[in-house]
Amino acid sequence: MKSEKLNVLVVGSGGREHAIVKAIKNSPMLAKLVCAPGNGGISRDCEVANVSAEDIDGLVKLAKDGGFNLVISGPEVPLSMGLADKLRAEGIAVYGPNKDGATLEASKAFSKNFLKKYNIPTAIGENFTDADKASEFIKNASFDVVVKASGLAAGKGVVIPETREEAISAAREMLEGGAFGDSGKEIVVEEKMEGEEASIMLMVCKDKYVMLPASQDHKRVGEGDTGLNTGGMGAYAPAAVATPAVLEDVRKNIIEPTLAGLIAEGIDYRGTLYVGIMITKNGAKVVEFNVRFGDPECQVLMPLVKSDVLEILNDIANGELDESKVEIFDGFTAVVVMCAGGYPNSYRKGDVIKLPSDSEIPEGAWIIHAGTKEVNGEIVTSGGRVLGLTGTDKTLEGALAKAYDLCNKVSFDGAFYRRDIAHRELNRNK
Ligand code: AMP
Ligand code: GLY
Repeated sequence: MKSEKLNVLVVGSGGREHAIVKAIKNSPMLAKLVCAPGNGGISRDCEVANVSAEDIDGLVKLAKDGGFNLVISGPEVPLSMGLADKLRAEGIAVYGPNKDGATLEASKAFSKNFLKKYNIPTAIGENFTDADKASEFIKNASFDVVVKASGLAAGKGVVIPETREEAISAAREMLEGGAFGDSGKEIVVEEKMEGEEASIMLMVCKDKYVMLPASQDHKRVGEGDTGLNTGGMGAYAPAAVATPAVLEDVRKNIIEPTLAGLIAEGIDYRGTLYVGIMITKNGAKVVEFNVRFGDPECQVLMPLVKSDVLEILNDIANGELDESKVEIFDGFTAVVVMCAGGYPNSYRKGDVIKLPSDSEIPEGAWIIHAGTKEVNGEIVTSGGRVLGLTGTDKTLEGALAKAYDLCNKVSFDGAFYRRDIAHRELNRNK
């Protein structure tokens, strides 16, 4: 039964979940807001419960015992473990797909087959469980290849080899050498696509959806997109590379057939669908599907939703989205991720974070906590990506100025961040 006043449980502990909490905490529909397990910053915005995001039975018990009527899952892992299925079986509304829908992210092999079956533009590729067959395919391919572990690998399961030998050894390491464990027992070998990437985040309710502004993440740790891959060093939205024509192409050739395909497969999808696209010279192609908001993309999307985010998520969870009710701000957002020294290799932990008081944080600026925890009343670093400094403004330059201004207001030993977030966009505007 759909309730008017909601007891809401947000699952997760990162920057994405903190952005969701901030977006919904002042909703007039809210009766109670709890996040499990949350983090140091989340615990200052709402109650937290000490249940891990991967303790499915613990979360179901918490939701039932606490009288929650809406659960919002931030991360993909609980969804792929069947959190939404179990909650729905208890009559609790969930924002996030069931296990069947979560397979779009949990199995790149499944999603490759799905894309092919429904004729959705993507890189040419094949799935393999046998290393000799994969090697043969790589040797004979008429294109450069990318090798992907099929299962969840926390964003690390993709190898972009320089040579065919490297591609073959990556495939063998995954299939025979146990790289990525069970996630690498099946692989996808596909054509390397050329173009600029953008993230398209949809809030989906079966055949209906809201398309949020396109955003762009910054994966590499170093300025100018150099150095090791990370979970994401910053983002901005809207990303102009996704022009109205690109978005029209994405709607018609990617989103509509994807939602129709999900329905044809008997999947009742209610939650975020993240479509990673490559804008190639032959149109937009799917790089990957995720079944949750991107992190840090979520931090730049939540502030752009003018309508009550909680109402949208609740409508979707209850299967009754009215897209025409959803309004998006006509503005820009940027997030700069401040990291712990050493990240993305092994990094410092436990450094005390100096934070400004609420009155020192200007309108249109958010301090998002990603890897923090509270110890004896102090907030200390506990993850590689520690804070997301987020600015919203009428212009991208204004949004970036607010985000970087916040960077000057927080400090902890070993902190570093990229000073060139949105460089592609700023250069485009020149
Ligand atoms: P995925 O986890 O599939 O999104 O891959 C992670 C990153 O690898 C993407 O964001 C792309 O930058 C890159 N990538 C994945 N697949 C391809 C491809 N077929 N061609 C070029 N780059 C790719
Ligand atoms: N920022 C990329 C991701 O969340 O997968």
